[in-house]
Amino acid sequence: MKHCNKKGKRKAKLIGLAACVAATVTLSGCSLYDIADLFSGLGKGSEALYANENQQMPTEVAEAQTGSMDNNITDEAEQKEITEIAILPGASWLDTDGNVIQAHGGQIQLMPVPDENGVKTEKYVWVGEDKSSGHLGNDVAVYTSDDLYHWEFQGDVFRAVESREQLDEDSYFQELYQDHTSDELDEIYNCINKNTVIERPKLLYNHKNDNYVLWFHSDDSTEKNTYKYDVGMAGVAVSDSPAGPFKFLGRYRLSQCPDEQIDCFPSSKGEARDMNLFQDEDGTAYVTYTSENNKTLYISKLNEDYTYLSTDPEKAVYKEDFIRIFPGAMREAPVLFKGDNGRYYLMSSSTTGWMSNQARVWSADEIFGDWQNDGNPCVGTDADITFDTQSTCVFQTKEGQWIYYGDRWNSTDLADSRYIWLPLNFDGNRVVIKWESDFVLK
Ligand code: GAL
Repeated sequence: MKHCNKKGKRKAKLIGLAACVAATVTLSGCSLYDIADLFSGLGKGSEALYANENQQMPTEVAEAQTGSMDNNITDEAEQKEITEIAILPGASWLDTDGNVIQAHGGQIQLMPVPDENGVKTEKYVWVGEDKSSGHLGNDVAVYTSDDLYHWEFQGDVFRAVESREQLDEDSYFQELYQDHTSDELDEIYNCINKNTVIERPKLLYNHKNDNYVLWFHSDDSTEKNTYKYDVGMAGVAVSDSPAGPFKFLGRYRLSQCPDEQIDCFPSSKGEARDMNLFQDEDGTAYVTYTSENNKTLYISKLNEDYTYLSTDPEKAVYKEDFIRIFPGAMREAPVLFKGDNGRYYLMSSSTTGWMSNQARVWSADEIFGDWQNDGNPCVGTDADITFDTQSTCVFQTKEGQWIYYGDRWNSTDLADSRYIWLPLNFDGNRVVIKWESDFVLK
């Protein structure tokens, strides 16, 4: 028996090693796994993907364009109502004040939202990067909606700090950090100043504490490396409302590759970059993130407050506290969700920066169970570049419809990156996503 285990371990190590070697042989940031993607026309897709580029949503222009959807409707008012509710992937999406929605790398979910009297109602909450500041120092913005078409801006709920003095002098920051020492304020400034990376913010409502917990990718250069993604940590902040303000608690390295497995980047343990959160039906929450220099995705269980891991990385038990998914596969932009069939799905992109590439889905019966590669969920023309998007969220509407939400990054003007929502369906247990230039939510 012992012998068998040893053999099994050796085999697993060899497979792991092969995957790491494959992943380490890079071409423009891609692994061998993704070279096929590279040659399949990264980035731009066919014209149909950009049909809405010059449209706004929801506006008169959107109405005019989608008005043709139902030619039988002659009554003007009825036509207006129908046309107003179309989703236009890739259009410029406006909030209820008429401003462009700034919620990139974001997440949409139904959660209790308190009004000014503290009375909570379920609303859709959209959290994301406010890219008005460009690549670095993004504030985190939140919008709320009752119908997924009309989004009300709740503000920049977590703000990057402009100067060290601002923490002492600006009432917004004073109120949040009044009980902090000067050294602690130095550290906060160091972590979330305007020259740092604040990306892929995600939210959870913590029922036990009746508060909201924000996780995000917190990064920066280090003394050793000017590359802006060398710190590789997960930032955490909390608030009593999704409308903020969120108070920064700290930033952390996360789970580490167990000694008996092959670490694809042993020189930098516990890295956390692109990330997402998932809350299971029993309230247990998980963070999923790319680690080992973007070579391996992890899923780690959170503590009951959702503010840190369930167990310190040094003491964590593999498959009880965390799991590594397909070491060396070089995936990022992870999205973890549970289908109506009770199966867990992990969608991700390859690692080609702002350029789109081929999506992949893995699925499993249990979070810490055996993950199977389901391949590319996208079908049809431009499926090889995820319809020129990168995954950031999959959500379910009140009516039970599943929606894929990806970012179409505009690397020359990140604030003008577009949101792409598409209906996500299940064919048996497989996820299927098809391009639609416009669609009405069920
Ligand atoms: C992407 C990542 C984005 C951002 C970008 C920077 O791969 O998903 O969130 O970090 O790289 O190049």
